[in-house]
Amino acid sequence: MAYINDNYLKLKAGYLFPEIGRRYRAFAAANPSAKIIRCGIGDVTEPLAPAVITAMQKAVGEMASRETFKGYGDEQGCDFLREAIAKHDYQSRGCDIAADEVFVSDGSKCDTGNILDILGHNNVIAMTDPVYPVYVDTNVMAGNTGASNDKGEYAGLVYLPTTAENNFTPELPTRRVDVIYLCYPNNPTGAVATRETLAKWIAYAKANDTLILYDAAYYAYITDPAIPHSIYELPGGRDVAIEFRSYSKTAGFTGTRCAYTVVPKSVTGKAADGSRVDFHRLWNRRHTTKFNGVAYIVQRGAEATYSAEGKPQVKATIDFYMQNAAIIRKTLAELGLKVYGGVNAPYIWLKTPNNLKSWEFFDKLLSEAHVVGTPGSGFGAAGEGYFRISAFNSRANVEEAMNRFRTRLKI
Ligand code: MLT
Repeated sequence: MAYINDNYLKLKAGYLFPEIGRRYRAFAAANPSAKIIRCGIGDVTEPLAPAVITAMQKAVGEMASRETFKGYGDEQGCDFLREAIAKHDYQSRGCDIAADEVFVSDGSKCDTGNILDILGHNNVIAMTDPVYPVYVDTNVMAGNTGASNDKGEYAGLVYLPTTAENNFTPELPTRRVDVIYLCYPNNPTGAVATRETLAKWIAYAKANDTLILYDAAYYAYITDPAIPHSIYELPGGRDVAIEFRSYSKTAGFTGTRCAYTVVPKSVTGKAADGSRVDFHRLWNRRHTTKFNGVAYIVQRGAEATYSAEGKPQVKATIDFYMQNAAIIRKTLAELGLKVYGGVNAPYIWLKTPNNLKSWEFFDKLLSEAHVVGTPGSGFGAAGEGYFRISAFNSRANVEEAMNRFRTRLKI
């Protein structure tokens, strides 16, 4: 008999997005004539940039001949991509990050979950609330929490509420924590971290020997030039933080799969014997043992996002989604809803009208307007009473969804 990982039994129902999909399918089956518009999961809709396609096609060609064929590559990623990342995403913005500190992977969802492999089980772990559910659920799976209460909060985690009351800027933890997850631009609230905010977190991390897990998957959506794209833009950032980034939202790779995690050699943790060990060594060991690298063809596509042709093409798609965000923000505000985010992030976070619970508003929006969004409570207890609309969609769908908010939703 094989014993199961009992921690899985502590998890609340399904993962958020499959649960939304389940309700969507049930409604669609019961209402076959409804033309449902999905603004729930943040999944891109626009095609890959032409430069990316050209680079991938060329790489496919290389696979067709013995001379240029590629088998296994380096697990950490091809040098050409690691070097391009270090140069374009970091060094060009004054960050002291070297190519061998970059680990290419198939997604930030995987990496933010897998990072727990190299952390001990006795850490006090903090996260903002609401939060990307992967951080919570993977800690539950790893046995780092107790059971959940009826609000969905797990014993043992330190939650930092992030709501309109504190302007979506969480307070520093009132107790010492070993690990803190930060995500900026924030999913789901769309809030950003200023230099001052990041400096405060770095100072906290230094004073308390805390590891920051910094998810910057949405950095490309920052429009305000004063907002840092990376925690490494701040002095001391490379001593305390591991940063996660992805081509999913930056360049439309949700179905293509390519991301990377930066583990500076200067970030260390404590071994049981009290000695300091760098996380880079551990992540390298983990990555090379459990992962065999991203497809060469895909890495060539990712590299093309930095080329003279690719850069403006990728930027144009991001601008397109941000125009969607502006349309959504404007419409919802005109309807008298309280809206947040959507300026430096592709997510619009709104306060539900008439104090409806998040899932109540989900059902109302689906049944009256045939529009799917994401209930804020699915991101954590402090997300109750909020709702997320994603700007990742075609213009026609965004306009039609907003038209239905105006004409069909009874608020
Ligand atoms: C979201 O909608 O929050 C994201 O698409 C989920 C993800 O990136 O995994």
